[in-house]
Amino acid sequence: MIGRIALVTGGSRGIGRAVVERFEKLGARVLAPSRAELDLRDGAAVEAYAAALGEPIDILVNDAGINPIAAYDTIADADLQEVLAVNLIAPFRLCRALAPGMVARRYGRIVNISSIWSLVAKPGRAAYAISKSGVNGLTRSLAVELAPHNVLVNAVAPGFVATELTYRNNTPEALVALTANLPIGRLGDPAEIAELVAFLASERNSFATGQVVVCDGGYSSL
Ligand SMILES: NC(=O)c1ccc[n+]([C@@H]2O[C@H](COP(=O)([O-])OP(=O)(O)OC[C@H]3O[C@@H](n4cnc5c(N)ncnc54)[C@H](OP(=O)(O)O)[C@@H]3O)[C@@H](O)[C@H]2O)c1
Repeated sequence: MIGRIALVTGGSRGIGRAVVERFEKLGARVLAPSRAELDLRDGAAVEAYAAALGEPIDILVNDAGINPIAAYDTIADADLQEVLAVNLIAPFRLCRALAPGMVARRYGRIVNISSIWSLVAKPGRAAYAISKSGVNGLTRSLAVELAPHNVLVNAVAPGFVATELTYRNNTPEALVALTANLPIGRLGDPAEIAELVAFLASERNSFATGQVVVCDGGYSSL
């Protein structure tokens, strides 16, 4: 990734931070705006941030995401809108703003962080699931439009990864039971997701596009 410039959302912690560290180790220059610099709930702010970027972005990773757990019939409109704004609409806006530059330079890699909850279900995750299913659709649609220009678009769908999000949404007892049932017998490490993201975002990936690559220690294969 030497000479490449990457934009990574959600780089302050968890999977996003591991992606930033991996990319930097591979030689990329990484822009990882904090929430104070770029609040993804605010569509106008996303547009303004992208328009003000003075550098050519070669790699975009849409990592930032929220997953408030609530039964479908208790989800408030405002919460639904926030989940969709952060998880789906902001990634769409960033792709729409940055892909034309990639097309003009005939090189680009976009990796969207999806989730196994875009493919399999668990109670309390309806808002999150529709946002991440939308991310899968965005990934496939843009892959088809951008492939002729050497801009490849993929998604990574992690399972249970040891981040604040996972510890917030699952009790310690639930995590013990869950890991016992995971084929691999443990949670994922953010660095393990970052490794896959790094491959898809690099020149070494020259043919895979439009894919949702599951990385879940076998969870969704049971
Ligand atoms: N952990 C898992 O097991 C798992 C599984 C499947 C999918 N995922 C997905 O992987 C991605 C990263 O998850 P994670 O576990 O690393 O999450 P995390 O530890 O909770 O970190 C979330 C990141 O998103 C940022 N963010 C949230 N709301 C934002 C907003 N309004 N504006 C800007 N930034 C915002 C956070 O910034 P602040 O530091 O400012 O809050 C933080 O950097 C998410 O898309 C998540 O849905 C995670």
